[in-house]
Amino acid sequence: MAIAALTTLVALAHIAVAIPQTATAASSALPTATAVVPGLNFVAKSAGKLYFGTATDNPELNDTAYDHILDNFLQFGAITPANSMKWDATEPEPYVFTFEAGDVIADLAHENGMLLRGHNCVWYNQLPSWVTANNYTAPELAAIIQNRCATLVGHYRGQVYAWDIINEPFNDNGTYREDVFYNTLGTSYIPIALTAARAADPNAKLYINEYNNEYLGPKSTALLDLVKELKAEGVPIDGVGFQCHFVVGEVPTTMVENFQQYAAIGLEFAITELDIRMPLPATPEMLEQQKTDYDTVVSACMAVPNCVGISVWDWTDKYSWIPSTYPGYGEACPWDANFVRKPAYDGIVIALENRTSVL
Ligand SMILES: *[C@@H]1O[C@H](CO)[C@@H](O)[C@H](O)[C@H]1NC(C)=O
Ligand SMILES: *[C@@H]1O[C@H](CO)[C@@H](O)[C@H](O)[C@H]1NC(C)=O
Ligand SMILES: *[C@@H]1O[C@H](CO)[C@@H](O)[C@H](O)[C@H]1NC(C)=O
Ligand SMILES: *[C@@H]1O[C@H](CO)[C@@H](O)[C@H](O)[C@H]1NC(C)=O
Repeated sequence: MAIAALTTLVALAHIAVAIPQTATAASSALPTATAVVPGLNFVAKSAGKLYFGTATDNPELNDTAYDHILDNFLQFGAITPANSMKWDATEPEPYVFTFEAGDVIADLAHENGMLLRGHNCVWYNQLPSWVTANNYTAPELAAIIQNRCATLVGHYRGQVYAWDIINEPFNDNGTYREDVFYNTLGTSYIPIALTAARAADPNAKLYINEYNNEYLGPKSTALLDLVKELKAEGVPIDGVGFQCHFVVGEVPTTMVENFQQYAAIGLEFAITELDIRMPLPATPEMLEQQKTDYDTVVSACMAVPNCVGISVWDWTDKYSWIPSTYPGYGEACPWDANFVRKPAYDGIVIALENRTSVL
């Protein structure tokens, strides 16, 4: 009886290992991850992180097969609205706000017990034309920014773990991006936005989110200097986001050293928009390299305790922004367009498990 039961268990375990969507190709460079883990968020939390999360977007939510995986808390402990809280989506006309689409994502996070990352308050892109077209004076634009951050962050008060208040303020060479905010207000738009956000939701972590700041270089130095200055002046700032939109085989080598500089000033940070694209068509070699690359990025977060979590910029190639933004590139996500896990998924698990076993 006992032996029969045990045989059944072994048989069941074998079936469990054989279920579809476990990673297939084994890497030569990396070990195979433990055959079945409950999910990425489960392993991330076991390793001491707050969450493994993903971006999602309103038009995808009518896809029930997509929802089935998105809604699984074992996979995702945080969601970020890819578009529906941006300026063009929430304040299409001056001082007129619409939150319907954003509320759908906030409600979804709440229903699933997930953290919500708010994205974003001030960004030069996806900006309704009225912000740039009216030649606002500095006091007018300051009032617009102040009101926007107060209204947006206030609307979601108590529901958001962290807000990307300022998005992409720098050029790659470390100078300030010459957008309407900087050109009208200089750097003062940054404390205006952060201060309004803090007052609107004192418990939300306030972030500045950037790309090409993941490695040592002028952009990272400029952002670090900005954060130090804000802290010295008593301006509320809690975190920095490293977007991590990478290309297969080109993942930066100085991430850990760079991250440690931010940890040294007592700041938390997160990997906020991870994806790793490749030229199409994908080959098995590129998918293996992608597995290694995902492992490298997640391991860098694991190496620095102040890295609180990791979000991918959607989890499936079906809804990735990459093919439309970078023609000829794609396959950037850990799940393919048919919701089958790629070797990249295993790369993430290996990095998270490596740390888990140490703890
Ligand atoms: C979801 O809606 C979009 C239009 O918003 C449509 O293009 C798509 O086919 C729909 N997907 C499903 C799975 O129904
Ligand atoms: C803003 O300034 C530009 C350049 O001086 C001018 O062409 C345009 O008409 C102005 N727009 C408004 C709404 O005043
Ligand atoms: C930095 O980059 C920006 C945007 O590409 C450019 O306009 C500016 O001239 C550059 N500044 C320096 C000092 O290289
Ligand atoms: C596991 O972590 C150690 C350092 O903590 C690192 O040297 C090693 O490469 C990692 N292994 C994998 C498979 O990521």
